[in-house]
Amino acid sequence: MSGPRGYRVAVLAGDGIGPEVVAEARKAAEAAGARFGFGLDWVDYDLGADRYLRTGEVLPDGVLAELREADAILLGAVGRPDVPPGVLERGLLLRLRFELDLYVNLRPVKLYPGVSSPLADVKPDDIDLLVVRENTEGVYVGAGGTVHRGGPAEAATETSIETRAGVERCLRFAAAKARERAGRLTLVHKANVLVHAGDLWQRAARAVADEAGVALDYTHADAACLYLVSDPQRFDVIVTDNLFGDILTDLGAAIAGGLGTAASANLNPEGGPGGLKERSGSPPVHRSPSLFEPVHGSAPDIAGTGRANPVAAVLSASLLLDHLGEREAAAAVEAGAVAALPGAAGYSTQALGDRIATAVAGGGSPN
Ligand code: IPM
Ligand code: MN
Repeated sequence: MSGPRGYRVAVLAGDGIGPEVVAEARKAAEAAGARFGFGLDWVDYDLGADRYLRTGEVLPDGVLAELREADAILLGAVGRPDVPPGVLERGLLLRLRFELDLYVNLRPVKLYPGVSSPLADVKPDDIDLLVVRENTEGVYVGAGGTVHRGGPAEAATETSIETRAGVERCLRFAAAKARERAGRLTLVHKANVLVHAGDLWQRAARAVADEAGVALDYTHADAACLYLVSDPQRFDVIVTDNLFGDILTDLGAAIAGGLGTAASANLNPEGGPGGLKERSGSPPVHRSPSLFEPVHGSAPDIAGTGRANPVAAVLSASLLLDHLGEREAAAAVEAGAVAALPGAAGYSTQALGDRIATAVAGGGSPN
């Protein structure tokens, strides 16, 4: 069905609560497709803990090649206690981020009406920022090693690699987002200690912000944690390195009421509208599909209980539709999810998903 107003979406539902929340995200996106006149062709991929334990496979090359042809990828969650840490995280999720060159991890931090923040006296409008996390470099590259393992002289290195090109392309994306919003870009790093990488980020950020005409300021990562809690309004768009972004966005999710509503987009912005490959005309351009996932993990403790909040997955589907160029549909899915939030705790995963899908289909609120 790939083609004008038809999109092929690869689904990696994964482990734990992944399949449960992804099912509800699909319902919401389907409802939007029916309402706004486009089709979604979902292709399920059996990847994750079960496949690994059954076959030893994490991401076979043939599957990766198929995923490259999708218009977008929707991922639930990967990881389970019976699989050693890192196997699925590195072998599946990080491999996809690297192989598909998904160099931006876009994570909105937004407090929605009806959701309570652990911060005192904050109203929904007080927490509304975007974190642009660099997604293909830093310590995540896996450069390093261990020597004399297990002995008294054991040593381990984990080298952080930052490139001018890698930093710059991430900064450009962030600056463009800042221009669409309040025009305020904050670089978060730890330039007082990580003097080499910090200097690279700071010089590149200055050049990109000047070029884009946005105001730039700088905050150390530790101070950024403090300000996220004490004064979240000071931020509009935060741009930061991979590891700082990982940590800051869990804190961001916490101040916005928890992981239940935290969505993310792993983007290859050059994928163009929809990350679609050129299907006619020449020359053919190699483009990568982008990947959308809730920030939460597989939560094996509540898997199968119907207690998982599907909203983060639904909001990730909204980001996916937006990336495909289906802006109205994306807005309707977001609105449906947001309208269902007050009192959401009283509903099962499926009941909440049904309410959201009904709201998206009818254009009304589920209440
Ligand atoms: C995230 C996760 C991943 C990360 C893990 C699962 C590899 O924590 O998406 O934030 O560290 O990026
Ligand atoms: Mn994380």
